[in-house]
Amino acid sequence: MSELFVELGERRYPIHLTSELPGALLALELAKLRPAPAPVLIVTDDHVGPLYGDAVCEALAAAGYTPTCLVLPHGEATKRLDVISTVVDKALSLGLSRRDVIVALGGGVVGDVAGFSAAVLMRGVRYIQVPTTVLAQVDSAVGGKTGVNHRLGKNLIGAFWQPSAVISSQAVLSTLPERERRCGLAEALKHGLLGDEQLVAWCLEHASQLRALDPSLTRELVARCCGIKAEIVRQDERDAGRRASLNLGHTYGHAYERLMGYGALTHGEAVALGMVWAARLSVALGVAKRGLEAAVSRALRALGLPFDTAADGLPSLSELTQAAQMDKKSDQTHVRFILLEEIGRTLIRTLSWTQIEEALAGPPSRRNP
Ligand SMILES: NC(=O)c1ccc[n+]([C@@H]2O[C@H](COP(=O)([O-])OP(=O)(O)OC[C@H]3O[C@@H](n4cnc5c(N)ncnc54)[C@H](O)[C@@H]3O)[C@@H](O)[C@H]2O)c1
Ligand SMILES: [Zn+2]
Repeated sequence: MSELFVELGERRYPIHLTSELPGALLALELAKLRPAPAPVLIVTDDHVGPLYGDAVCEALAAAGYTPTCLVLPHGEATKRLDVISTVVDKALSLGLSRRDVIVALGGGVVGDVAGFSAAVLMRGVRYIQVPTTVLAQVDSAVGGKTGVNHRLGKNLIGAFWQPSAVISSQAVLSTLPERERRCGLAEALKHGLLGDEQLVAWCLEHASQLRALDPSLTRELVARCCGIKAEIVRQDERDAGRRASLNLGHTYGHAYERLMGYGALTHGEAVALGMVWAARLSVALGVAKRGLEAAVSRALRALGLPFDTAADGLPSLSELTQAAQMDKKSDQTHVRFILLEEIGRTLIRTLSWTQIEEALAGPPSRRNP
């Protein structure tokens, strides 16, 4: 077991990394927040609940709590405002008070929904993240962005609400489908691309073991990514500056998701393609050297992620740009785009959509061979 902390003053919280199932550690963290007996609402989904719900409930019951699992349908479609009502209804029917705690047991979808429910229930109750996907462990469970989607775009409704603890268990990852594993590696690679060149090299070196979820390498990956994210969140909790770099690949990534229906591409696959566009745009604008796009594509390919933006069935550049214009981080004419100066260093630029389309449609910049 090891731990690191997100340093946010009085809202400081631990991220525990363990090779065991999460129940026992969860009971310990819970006891620090709310001594037993107390009701605990565990929000999960219909993949994760049947696999790990009972074990978690048993561990909490053994510690004197009264746990109840609320099992939501899996998938991005669950990130809806009416699902928040379902969670709130359940919490109130169980008699949760402001002192009680919600547990998010699942991937990024469950974490975002349970976290936002915790943020709005009685103006805010505490919650613990128990992320069960690689993506949630390296990214979404840390940092306190919670929320749901709107038909006009992803994550348009939400709140900053930090968890009280994060418990990342390597044991639960063994049941994760292959495609979901890879998609978590996309967000992991993102952390390297935006802030740690050595992490990118390390991912390339250990690509096959990471794809196979080798336990010790995966644990190191989670620790390194959480370290990067925790530091960014410490510097800029509310996304006023540096934190925006975590959106690398997400401008076009969200556009893919929206155009293809949430689910046809996983979030990680969409972000992978989005990072290729970000690299291409950086080169086209003369911000980065020409080899950057190839380097990003090479890393994605090694990790088994999509990198060919011209592949069959994918939307065109103009379709993507149109969809991206609807995103909450842009207005109709401009967007703050996360560019890459080189592997490990981002540059945030406000660009007009016309500028972006022209740059991407034109020949690669000759200024930076
Ligand atoms: N809040 C943030 O800062 C942040 C950051 C990145 C991504 N996100 C969000 O996270 C979401 C994507 O997260 P995700 O990739 O974890 O998706 P997800 O929660 O949909 O999980 C992926 C699939 O894996 C299943 N699953 C989860 N854990 C499992 C396990 N241990 N064994 C077997 N199956 C398991 C789920 O049921 C689901 O079918 C997106 O909605 C994205 O917007 C949020
Ligand atoms: Zn993401």
